[in-house]
Amino acid sequence: MRIQIITLFPEMFEGVLNSSMLWKAQKEGLVEYRLINLRDFGIGPRKQVDDTPYGGGDGMVLMPEPLFAAVDDAKEKDPDAQVLLMTPRGDLFNQELAREFAATQAGLIIICGRYEGYDERITTVVDKQLSIGNYVLTGGELPAMVVTDAVTRLVPGVLGGETSAEKESFSEAGVLEHPHYTRPEIYRGLKVPDVLLSGNHAEIDKWRADNNA
Ligand code: ADE
Repeated sequence: MRIQIITLFPEMFEGVLNSSMLWKAQKEGLVEYRLINLRDFGIGPRKQVDDTPYGGGDGMVLMPEPLFAAVDDAKEKDPDAQVLLMTPRGDLFNQELAREFAATQAGLIIICGRYEGYDERITTVVDKQLSIGNYVLTGGELPAMVVTDAVTRLVPGVLGGETSAEKESFSEAGVLEHPHYTRPEIYRGLKVPDVLLSGNHAEIDKWRADNNA
């Protein structure tokens, strides 16, 4: 699947997309990320992307023309992609939506809001407005990275091995995993629970089930 991200700050994504699972998912051809610089669709020699709001007030608003043009460009690659707009006014993003997005082959187009806001008319081409929590960030870039990460790890084949896929079924039930421990057995006086060292797999499974969040 392809995830296209429309942003004024593509450089913010480099570290996240080029590390760990997200990097591996691209390398293995399971996911393709495309960063679309909104500035490339700016107007005039100064590539203007924002303007003062009608009705007055502080701050600048992202203009409709560059936003529509960027979405059109992304749609040329994936005509059936779902268009998401990251905004604190959106519906709360959750695991169920992540699963739904990961299952669609059509792709995602994620618009990062910026500055004081965006011209509301862009919402006519948006399928879902999403928030990652009830707080206001300076822009939609971090939220877009959160959605990209949560979706990518659920794309079939991205998580390594069968066990990881099996574990994912826990989150289907809305249950988070139990705590984990590794060597050493005692660290700063803190001991690994005895049951995990017992070799009794029935007991271990029970302990893990009891300690799922
Ligand atoms: N843009 C600014 N804050 C946001 C949030 N909490 N969720 C999504 N987009 C945002």
